[in-house]
Amino acid sequence: MSSFEAILEAFKTSFEPDLRRVIGTLPQGAERLEEATVYSLMAGGKRLRPMLVKAGARAAGCEQQSWLTPAIAVELVHTYSLIHDDLPAMDDDHLRRGQPTCHVAFDEATAILAADGLQAAAFDCLANREDVSLSNRHRLHMVALLARASGLYGMVAGQAIDEASAGKIITLAQLEQMHRLKTGALIKASLGLGCLCTESPESPVYQQLLNIGELLGLAFQVVDDILDVEGDTHILGKPQGSDLHHNKNTYPSLMGLDAAKDYARTLKERVDGQIARLEGIGDVELLKQITEYVLIRDH
Ligand code: IPE
Ligand code: IPE
Ligand code: MG
Ligand code: MG
Ligand code: MG
Repeated sequence: MSSFEAILEAFKTSFEPDLRRVIGTLPQGAERLEEATVYSLMAGGKRLRPMLVKAGARAAGCEQQSWLTPAIAVELVHTYSLIHDDLPAMDDDHLRRGQPTCHVAFDEATAILAADGLQAAAFDCLANREDVSLSNRHRLHMVALLARASGLYGMVAGQAIDEASAGKIITLAQLEQMHRLKTGALIKASLGLGCLCTESPESPVYQQLLNIGELLGLAFQVVDDILDVEGDTHILGKPQGSDLHHNKNTYPSLMGLDAAKDYARTLKERVDGQIARLEGIGDVELLKQITEYVLIRDH
């Protein structure tokens, strides 16, 4: 285990009990839905977006625990997106986070509803989770950011473009736009949410962290595409080769594997350059470590 993987593991151990607690007891009769919701949420996962929320907060100079509520919210949205992404109508995948996908372990209707519920739970968490360190003004900015990043102008639009372009020839610019939306938007928002723990959306550091998130999010999906070609199903915890099987447009399919790897490295260097400009405002150590990891990860 690399030293950063040890940090990730330690983060998961402290974060996951708080994540688990946001799902309470559902109304009588909805036991299967409750089971499916908890199943997908707690199935594993790197918890990278929550860590980015923390990294964004630290980089902006916030030393409190205020990052926890937005970190939970972003993981709730991310998990909902994975459940829908795996459905037969979308990527039709059977393995996620090393376990049968939600619709396989339960059924399609339950999986759709569990994801719907997780999405609403994210905004419930931002609005209602008890957290004295967050003012109503902070919460409102966070709701606005997460809604915009995950919805019709962000992740959902990216997923729609992904579906619509499968099997079609698209340009690199179109591919980049798709990646920026389907994955980049939520990663960018994660750093933004962290920053909003202490700064206003008008602050220069907020814009700077969004710029970093934009590049990092794109790099993250380029690496995801590479892992779909080169990864190992067992280590990935999701089926290697899914993109090829579904004729998806990816960086390796459009530019070749080596060029995709070069591009991921170029993006990472650009991220490094932007992080250097943040030094002195807060603590950028965690952000630097996550950036390194995004490129060398095997799952
Ligand atoms: C997978 O995200 C979906 C993409 C946006 C590429 P992660 O690789 O962060 O998945 P988990 O949360 O660790 O399972
Ligand atoms: C999905 O991208 C991104 C979202 C879930 C929004 P992929 O379809 O490439 O993700 P994986 O590879 O199944 O995790
Ligand atoms: Mg997909
Ligand atoms: Mg998929
Ligand atoms: Mg993928």
